[in-house]
Amino acid sequence: MNGGLKIALPKGRLGQKVYDILSKIGYSYDEIMQESRKLVFCDEKNGFTYFLVKPSDVATYVEYGAADIGFVGRDILLENKSNVYELCDLGIGKCRICVAGKRDFPYHEKNHLKVATIFPNISRDFFRSSGKTVDIITLHGSIEIAPLVKLSDVIVDIVETGTTLKENNLTVFEEIVSISTRYIANKVSYTYKNKEISRILDLLNSLKDAKND
Ligand code: PRP
Repeated sequence: MNGGLKIALPKGRLGQKVYDILSKIGYSYDEIMQESRKLVFCDEKNGFTYFLVKPSDVATYVEYGAADIGFVGRDILLENKSNVYELCDLGIGKCRICVAGKRDFPYHEKNHLKVATIFPNISRDFFRSSGKTVDIITLHGSIEIAPLVKLSDVIVDIVETGTTLKENNLTVFEEIVSISTRYIANKVSYTYKNKEISRILDLLNSLKDAKND
């Protein structure tokens, strides 16, 4: 498992999209997307070892060099302040991180807020720069419930289609940052495995160029 390129792939919905892109640039390895509990896959033909990890852990595997490269949402890179090279934007997994809450909450009049979020660092940095003081309550999912049950005044969460907010009678007050999936590399691997890492980068870029033509 030491030679070749070690690749951290996100599990789940995003993983499927990333896998489709890898297939398009000539690196299909069908076993990965088959239903099983297997987490490590060796593609001997291309010299790749794939790790299937939680999307929020991809950057950690890459930062510490357990994986040479990975595919990860920009939200995770910002939240973890990941020390990796961000090589390109895949243009998938597009969404926004927003401040949202109940429609009748006077967000713009408040200088102090209780904020529920899975992004404590992004939230703290954002409200510090906008001059509001905050109490951060960290949750791990279904964040939209927090303002409904008065756990928080607002939430900072991913908004993709806006359906979850709408169906829970919440609205966006402010957008913090837009997000998409990035191709990342470990900084040491980028030097020592530059040929392989750059080859994938070139193929990803040419796929994007072909799409834009
Ligand atoms: C994410 C996010 C929102 C939802 C937004 O949740 O936390 O809840 O997607 O998508 P929408 O704008 O298209 O409705 P996810 O489905 O990942 O599950 P989670 O609530 O467990 O985080």
